[in-house]
Amino acid sequence: MAKHTAASAAVGWGGHHLQKRWLLALLVMLSVSTVIAFFLRAAFDSCDRNVSGNDVISSARNAVQIADKPSPPIVAAKPSPLSFMKSKIVLLVSHELSLSGGPLLLMELAFLLRSVGAEVYWITFMKPSETDEVIYSLEHKMLDRGVQAFSAYGKEAIDTALRADLVVLNTAVAGKWLDYVLKDDVQRVLPKVLWWIHEMRGHYFKLDYVKHLPFVAGAMIDSHVTAEYWKNRTLERLKIKMPETYVVHLGNSNELMQVAEDSVAKRVLREHVRESLGVRNEDVLFALINSVSRGKGQDLFLRSFYEALQLIKQKKLQVPPLHAVIVGSDMSAHTKLETELRDYVMQKKIQDRVHFVNKTLTVAPYLAAIDVLVQNSQGRGECFGRITIEAMAFQLPVLGTGAGGTAEIVVNGTTGLLHPGGKEGVAPLAKHIVKLATHVERRLTIGKRGYERVKERFLEQHMAERIGGVLKQVLRKSKNKSSKQL
Ligand SMILES: *[C@@H]1O[C@H](CO)[C@@H](O)[C@H](O)[C@H]1NC(C)=O
Ligand SMILES: *[C@@H]1O[C@H](CO)[C@@H](O)[C@H](O)[C@H]1NC(C)=O
Ligand SMILES: *[C@@H]1O[C@H](CO)[C@@H](O)[C@H](O)[C@H]1NC(C)=O
Ligand SMILES: *[C@@H]1O[C@H](CO)[C@@H](O)[C@H](O)[C@H]1NC(C)=O
Repeated sequence: MAKHTAASAAVGWGGHHLQKRWLLALLVMLSVSTVIAFFLRAAFDSCDRNVSGNDVISSARNAVQIADKPSPPIVAAKPSPLSFMKSKIVLLVSHELSLSGGPLLLMELAFLLRSVGAEVYWITFMKPSETDEVIYSLEHKMLDRGVQAFSAYGKEAIDTALRADLVVLNTAVAGKWLDYVLKDDVQRVLPKVLWWIHEMRGHYFKLDYVKHLPFVAGAMIDSHVTAEYWKNRTLERLKIKMPETYVVHLGNSNELMQVAEDSVAKRVLREHVRESLGVRNEDVLFALINSVSRGKGQDLFLRSFYEALQLIKQKKLQVPPLHAVIVGSDMSAHTKLETELRDYVMQKKIQDRVHFVNKTLTVAPYLAAIDVLVQNSQGRGECFGRITIEAMAFQLPVLGTGAGGTAEIVVNGTTGLLHPGGKEGVAPLAKHIVKLATHVERRLTIGKRGYERVKERFLEQHMAERIGGVLKQVLRKSKNKSSKQL
């Protein structure tokens, strides 16, 4: 087993010294539910509310048999862009507590705020979609970091909402909580509500969820295209006006960056994952990492992949074997698409080239193992698509649809290659696959540029700066409102 030599130091979320060992990341593979507060990520796009990951590749567990390392030296953190939130009371309202994108993102915000000394409260108001064990573990992680979780329906929730400086509603669905719990006090709370929206689907445009939207202090949305969509749809469908809307692109957690920048960790992970899939080191591995659904485009990706294999054969190109891996499968769901994907692979006789991996929250091992990320989301695309910036952190080129958040993250031709969605995209994506397989230098250069772009604008620090700017304005505005009411 390779010895870890990189003397990497780390400061965790907003200044908490993390006893960082790069091993931590590997450990996460062992038990998603116990290492949650670290290295936690929204493996699936935050648009996807119902994805919960708990299957972890077992073969990677071996990777964890590496000895503990002493803690690295402490490096002073830069002052947090959220430091003005010190002593502020913040209530976070989550529709659920689970391992899906939305709640995990809110949890990251909770820890960022805690790290600057804000008083942070958390309430969850929907029935758990996760097992008690997962929820228990998540609540403990929050408690460990000083975030207090309590019932969404009691007096405590109302009292906290009334005395809070800021209330963050997470996702459109969270709007239901306002009337249901606050009742007559809704109007008093609305001026200090920041609504964080991560979804872009028709059924969220219901007055039931969002009728208070025009009266809150602000809306924070993950991408320009999603914000635009909300503006249009609320006006057209519901005849309501969006409040002040801020676009906040997400950032990679420090923990993910640590793994991405640790060449030894990456190599170990790469070897283990490739071995588990039966993919050799020199083979070229393309991955689509998203829960399996038509919206995420696994079916079209496989068609492109097959077409790429045909092109290579026809043109007698000299390339190493190409492989595709679909990470995010769930056969137990018995969906038509899961069956269809496997039937397609059988029918085209590419079983030795296509691999299916169960849903997981632990994507770092896969990002370390693959050569190219495919982001094939269809229609309006991703709200943001966090996996895209995560892959770029691992210096991977991105082959993505020119839609949604992907088009805001990827610089076409520089950090990735964009193709159209739908059937028209199948042939272009196939060509891009062949291009990156045959032009190794180009592939590596695109990957490096992606990494540079992440370092420039998609780090946790950047996200905290963006959120800080929004919170400042929201606080100022709500103060103004309450002073006028007096
Ligand atoms: C919103 O509406 C404007 C004007 O009708 C249109 O140009 C724009 O493309 C729409 N945006 C979205 C995301 O639908
Ligand atoms: C993947 O999920 C299926 C169905 O839920 C399960 O039978 C299988 O054991 C899982 N595979 C791994 C490697 O965990
Ligand atoms: C990406 O760049 C290619 C080549 O310049 C161009 O043909 C394509 O239309 C671009 N796609 C998008 C979505 O910008
Ligand atoms: C506060 O209210 C005053 C008067 O209504 C207004 O002029 C000012 O622009 C407001 N400031 C902010 C930050 O909203």
